[in-house]
Amino acid sequence: MFPLEYPKRIGLIGTGSVGCGWAAVYVARGYDVIASDPALNAEKRARAFIADTWDALHKLGVATVDSFPDEKLSFVTTPADVASSVDLVHENAPENIALKQSVYDEIESAAPPTLVIASSTGGIPPTQLQARMRHPERLLVCHPFNPPHIMPLVEIVGGEKTAPAIVDWALRFFGALGKKPIRVDKEVTAFLTNRLQFALLREAVHCVAEGIASPQAIEDAMRYGLGPRWAVMGALTTFTLAGGAGGMPHVLTIAPELQKWMDALGSPKLTAPDVQAALIKAAAEITQGQSLADLMAWRNDKLADLLHAVNPGDQPKKRN
Ligand SMILES: NC(=O)c1ccc[n+]([C@@H]2O[C@H](COP(=O)([O-])OP(=O)(O)OC[C@H]3O[C@@H](n4cnc5c(N)ncnc54)[C@H](O)[C@@H]3O)[C@@H](O)[C@H]2O)c1
Repeated sequence: MFPLEYPKRIGLIGTGSVGCGWAAVYVARGYDVIASDPALNAEKRARAFIADTWDALHKLGVATVDSFPDEKLSFVTTPADVASSVDLVHENAPENIALKQSVYDEIESAAPPTLVIASSTGGIPPTQLQARMRHPERLLVCHPFNPPHIMPLVEIVGGEKTAPAIVDWALRFFGALGKKPIRVDKEVTAFLTNRLQFALLREAVHCVAEGIASPQAIEDAMRYGLGPRWAVMGALTTFTLAGGAGGMPHVLTIAPELQKWMDALGSPKLTAPDVQAALIKAAAEITQGQSLADLMAWRNDKLADLLHAVNPGDQPKKRN
């Protein structure tokens, strides 16, 4: 049914922060990219974004030529124009189900039934996205982690009507692209990684709102405590090693105490005006007047260094 070869030309719908990130990855890997975005300055913004980020892509080994080959990126007017000339569409429109569905209508009006549509959505279940499609089997979620041109992770999620072969194909394709794709087996709100992230963010918001520590102390707890450990192993390995040679069974001997810690976690309301005011004040304190553009450039550079050290392919070696 689907040719399921690797694409030659990739279409991008929406070139905001995520679409630009994908554009940078795809161009750096040698693909021709055809994009559409109704924003007036979209093309100029995308070209500037890719040129600015090329050094980081080089550092990561994603880009192999010295400078951005800007002829590899072109812009057309509508999603239908994109769909008629590519082998894969990656949709990065705003997180709004009605808008995404209208984009799929436009794509389907111009695409052959076998054109695969990947959505970057951070949390809309694919079954909802594909609900009114003529060929729902072609749609799946390929959700990157911000910034998509630097972070290896891509979550692959199929909907009830997604062809299973497309999910397998996406795992292979993003792996070959140098990403670390993972399959999410059940469709749940916010998928897997945002659920993990929001569990921690919820507690960070609670700590800010309740004044448990200063915003900088909360940042430092992550940066110098949890972050480096989580860069080399996940929460489950961390928890296993907390039990020393006894591992997880030993940790669980104090399960009643640990359960009290879990039960004590906060559940702040992100929509509450006082919580929002506390968060905006905390963000101003942490950023200390630095421009967000400077912070993003600094982040990209640091992440590229870190990912060099923590090769996503590394696994612990077994001792004989
Ligand atoms: N920002 C993140 O951290 C992040 C991370 C992973 C996934 N995502 C997901 O990626 C998607 C895009 O997020 P973003 O942060 O890049 O948003 P954004 O607002 O930065 O960019 C969205 C872009 O889509 C364009 N757009 C609007 N209507 C369009 C249309 N009809 N056709 C084509 N383009 C259109 C806008 O002009 C804008 O440039 C969302 O689904 C979001 O959930 C975001």
